[in-house]
Order: sequence, then C-alpha cells, then structure tokens
Amino acid sequence: MNFSLDGRLSVCAALVRSGTKLADVGTDHAYLPIWLALNGRIASAVASDIRQKPLDSGLENIRKYGCENIISVRLCSGLDDIHSEEADDIVMAGMGGELIAKLIDNAPWIKSNDKRLILQPMTKAHILREYLFENGFDIISETPCTASGKYYTVICSEYTGKRKSYTLSDIYIGGLKSNAEYVDRYMSGILSKLKKQRNGILHNDGNSAEIDKVIEQIKETFGV
Ligand SMILES: C[S@@+](CC[C@H](N)C(=O)[O-])C[C@H]1O[C@@H](n2cnc3c(N)ncnc32)[C@H](O)[C@@H]1O
Repeated sequence: MNFSLDGRLSVCAALVRSGTKLADVGTDHAYLPIWLALNGRIASAVASDIRQKPLDSGLENIRKYGCENIISVRLCSGLDDIHSEEADDIVMAGMGGELIAKLIDNAPWIKSNDKRLILQPMTKAHILREYLFENGFDIISETPCTASGKYYTVICSEYTGKRKSYTLSDIYIGGLKSNAEYVDRYMSGILSKLKKQRNGILHNDGNSAEIDKVIEQIKETFGV
C-alpha cells in the first residue's frame, strides 16, 4: 500500500463506519474506496461517477491495487443506479454543495436512519446544510480539513425525519466547533464571502440586518 489520502478524503475515511457497505459518489480516481478496502475497513463498495473517463481511471486504480473483489464501479448520476441494499454509508466528496443536495434529493431511499451521509462540499456548504435541515437530516458532526492549501468542511449527517428549525447563522456554522483544528481558517473564508455579500446588499440599498447578525456570531464564536 503506497498512497495516502489528502486532508479532505482522510476526514471522510475516518467517518466511514467499520465493516460498512460504501457508495462513493463522484469517485473519479477511486482513492477513497481503495484506501478503505486496503485497510480492511469496508465490506464492499460501489464507486460511481457520471463520466466514463474518471470511472475508467478509477477502475484502473482498483485493478492496480487488487481491490476488484471489494469495489465495483457504476456509471450513473448520483445514486440513480445504486440500490439501498448496496450502501449503508454514502460519501459525496469534491462536488459543489448545491449538486450534493440535489443528488441526495434524487435518492429517496437515503432517507432512512440506518444510512450515514459523509459530505464534503467544495463550495456552498450553507446551501447543503439548509437542504439537510429542511429535509429531516441531522448534522451529527462537522470536521474542518485542509487540502492543497484550501480549507473545507466534512459534514456527517443522518436522517431523523424531523425537520429542524434553524437560523441563518445555523446554516453558515452548522456543526462546526470553535476548538476544531483549521476551523478559524475555514471560517475566515466564509466570513470574507459574507462581507462581500453584505457589501452587495448595502450597495443596492438593501437591509443587511440578518447577515450582520451572522457575521457578528461568526466573529464571536470563532474569534476571526
Ligand atoms: C473533483 S472530483 C472528486 C473526486 C473525489 N470524490 C474526491 O473528492 O477527490 C468530482 C467528480 O464528481 C463527478 N460528478 C460530477 N457530477 C456528478 C454526478 N451528478 N453524479 C456522479 N458523479 C458526478 C465528476 O465526474 C468528477 O469525477
């Protein structure tokens, strides 16, 4: 075994339950399921991608590391051709938050309390959190991480069926804790985006009161 996962995928891997059946949606190189298979962490995996080329490179790597007996590949969008019996833990990493929300929404079988979602949005994590809160998913934990000099969050979520009431701050902060490693740098990035948004609102003579509250709460909670 001669490769390690980057910071994003390491956090995702740590959240996968031992002995699980995994679906890695948008797998590309398939490094995550391969690493988990080589480390004896999963019973089986479906590695899926919407495009043939990444799937081919995933399959090449699966063969290179001798994991064909544990990992199969599937050409499909999201979970469209993956069945509930094939996946207990579902990873969606390296895609936009809006797309991840859409892919969850397209798979009604995911709304079951024995499934675990491990989600690593590259952008718009707030839209993904809002979708989760609106649709009866709970955020179990959230872990900031870093890869290639950038900062991200990994959201671990399970279905409860109870729609959560939430504020605008909740959808920007989610399950992030002030003492987590990298959280200050992750939150600094979010803060500068919110400040730009606020400037846009003021530029159009709008009311920035709601966004001001979020900015203040982020500054107070994370000291950024
Ligand atoms: C940046 S790569 C991420 C690879 C890997 N998951 C990671 O985090 O390193 C994004 C992958 O998602 C795939 N993708 C984009 N839209 C998708 C969809 N609707 N369903 C499945 N895969 C999709 C792309 O083809 C691409 O291979």
